Amino acid sequence: MNIAIITGASSGLGREYARQLAQDESIEEFWLIARRTERLEALKEELAPRTCRLLALDLTQMDSFPCIEKQLAALKGLEVRWLINAAGFGRIGSCSEIDAATTARLIDLNCRAAVMMTQLTLPFMSAGSHILEICSCAAFQPIPFLTAYAASKAFLLSYSRALGQELAPQHIDVTAVCPYWIKDTEFISEARKTDRQGLFHSLPLATTQSEVAQRSLRAARNHIKVCTPDAMSFLHRILTAILPHNVLIYASEIYRRLS
Ligand SMILES: NC(=O)c1ccc[n+]([C@@H]2O[C@H](COP(=O)([O-])OP(=O)(O)OC[C@H]3O[C@@H](n4cnc5c(N)ncnc54)[C@H](OP(=O)(O)O)[C@@H]3O)[C@@H](O)[C@H]2O)c1
Repeated sequence: MNIAIITGASSGLGREYARQLAQDESIEEFWLIARRTERLEALKEELAPRTCRLLALDLTQMDSFPCIEKQLAALKGLEVRWLINAAGFGRIGSCSEIDAATTARLIDLNCRAAVMMTQLTLPFMSAGSHILEICSCAAFQPIPFLTAYAASKAFLLSYSRALGQELAPQHIDVTAVCPYWIKDTEFISEARKTDRQGLFHSLPLATTQSEVAQRSLRAARNHIKVCTPDAMSFLHRILTAILPHNVLIYASEIYRRLS
């Protein structure tokens, strides 16, 4: 049985990936992971008659992973054709404003959970399987006041690129998806919970979940290793490849104040 596993499927990009992949008839079952059961139920109804398995799990909790592993091992002949690690969150603010427990949770979800999900699904993948690690263009450089978030995405980008090389002989594709701000998901309002000073007030040229999902699925099918799905992330990638990090940090501060 061919399955697609999507984390963060209860909203935003994860939900949009499920909607767009539902058009692919070769996927026989969708495994949808997030904490909010009612949102997952609603998506299951929307995707009907496609078959969905709902896993209401908190991926910052280590005991969530053996639970997924057991369900994978219980099914004979199972093939994970798509793994999309979209669960993630950010926090805007100074390191002194964001409490240590929240930062630890951010690292657990954005880094550890993505790696755990990747490792535990790999034995069920074969040639032609796809892994999408949802990073961010914040991965391209250090960003003050998005400090831990940008660092967590830099980790995931580095992990994805190296893993892609490791898995190339097995013809398993790894695509790091690095969008700029997306205006129509819950991410920005969640990230702003700690932004008491309105540090990132306007987000010019923010993109949309549907564009990001569509372009990154196309990139994955075309074996692209790093996908910048919008004009701003593409420009950011070029600039960060040319300019030194100390200049970029300074430039990001100017950009934040002017925008
Ligand atoms: N939106 C942007 O501007 C932007 C830009 C670049 C990259 N990204 C990245 O894109 C990815 C998707 O974000 P989004 O924009 O779609 O935001 P979103 O709408 O807030 O979606 C985040 C998803 O993560 C899930 N999640 C959060 N905490 C979780 C936990 N502890 N365990 C399991 N699932 C959890 C949420 O579901 P529950 O709350 O139901 O658990 C939700 O489904 C993230 O990795 C984000 O870093 C976003």
